[in-house]
Amino acid sequence: MGKGGVGKSTSAALNSLFLAQRGFEVLIVSLDPAHNQSDIFEKKLADKPKQVTSHLKAIEIDQDHWIKRYLKDVHEQIRRTYSYLTSFNLEKYFKVIKHSPGLEEYALILAFKEINRKFSKMDFLVFDMAPTALSLKFFNLPTLSLIWINHLLALRKEIIKKRELITKVRLMKKEIETDKVLSRIQESIQEYTTLKELFEDPGLTKINLVLNPDQLSLAESRRIVEGLGAINISLSQVIVNKIQENSSMDHIDREFKGIPLLKAPFSETPLIGLDVLMRFLQANEEKLMGQPLQVLKNGIQ
Ligand SMILES: Nc1ncnc2c1ncn2[C@@H]1O[C@H](COP(=O)(O)OP(=O)(O)OP(=O)(O)O)[C@@H](O)[C@H]1O
Ligand SMILES: [Mg+2]
Repeated sequence: MGKGGVGKSTSAALNSLFLAQRGFEVLIVSLDPAHNQSDIFEKKLADKPKQVTSHLKAIEIDQDHWIKRYLKDVHEQIRRTYSYLTSFNLEKYFKVIKHSPGLEEYALILAFKEINRKFSKMDFLVFDMAPTALSLKFFNLPTLSLIWINHLLALRKEIIKKRELITKVRLMKKEIETDKVLSRIQESIQEYTTLKELFEDPGLTKINLVLNPDQLSLAESRRIVEGLGAINISLSQVIVNKIQENSSMDHIDREFKGIPLLKAPFSETPLIGLDVLMRFLQANEEKLMGQPLQVLKNGIQ
């Protein structure tokens, strides 16, 4: 997480490379629709994993592809659940969904879930996220969806109760057919609860906040911490990036008491290309050991 331009993509690339150099199988996934990993690694990346270096693969997700996938899934669900709808009516309902706001986040969540499932054998999945606004929406989506779906659940139950009443009066027996809509709602609740738990578990999801020593990026970082705190997500580490000789750090040390701070210096050489990235890691090895060592101590290997 972090404000635009603070060095999220570069940190994600360095973090991935650091882990790969130690023999972990790593997949770096750019979830930011404005991708940068191709430029950082100087390699054309795509929606399928490409080998960047030994033990390290990379993907840049194609947002339009995932929006189409998401809409196709929804279309299929409506068709299955409301089998009595004519195709004309089906299209009518579908149009409402196709133009609803928030599609971007749903598509990102779908991509995240699929990648998480498909590459569960990797030791680490490193996600390079978009700047603050979109990423907060991404992490908020399970919580918001659960609030909304729970309202739908209550409504559906009311509908079923009324329907049962009618069948009882008419047929003198209870309707035994399971309600497809109710099942679908319950399935969604399950899916979003699993995702919410994954985001909230610091043993499974480590969220790094990247910031620079300047006041604006610190102010935005505070809002990120608050935003994540509201949905029960805590930070694993704060990366203070682009530190220069004259950078004052006291205010940052005070702000993030209790959260591991990783301090990365400003690089005069642009951090582009594998060779430069590797040299930067080597030169700063001691400073950069913090988080991956923590991971090792947790016994993931
Ligand atoms: N430690 C560093 N020293 C010098 N330059 C850096 C450092 N880290 C990142 N940069 C440079 O800062 C710029 C922004 O970096 P990067 O793209 O990683 O940021 P970002 O937070 O991912 O940006 P965005 O919000 O646009 O996704 C790039 O030119 C990058 O090379
Ligand atoms: Mg970026």
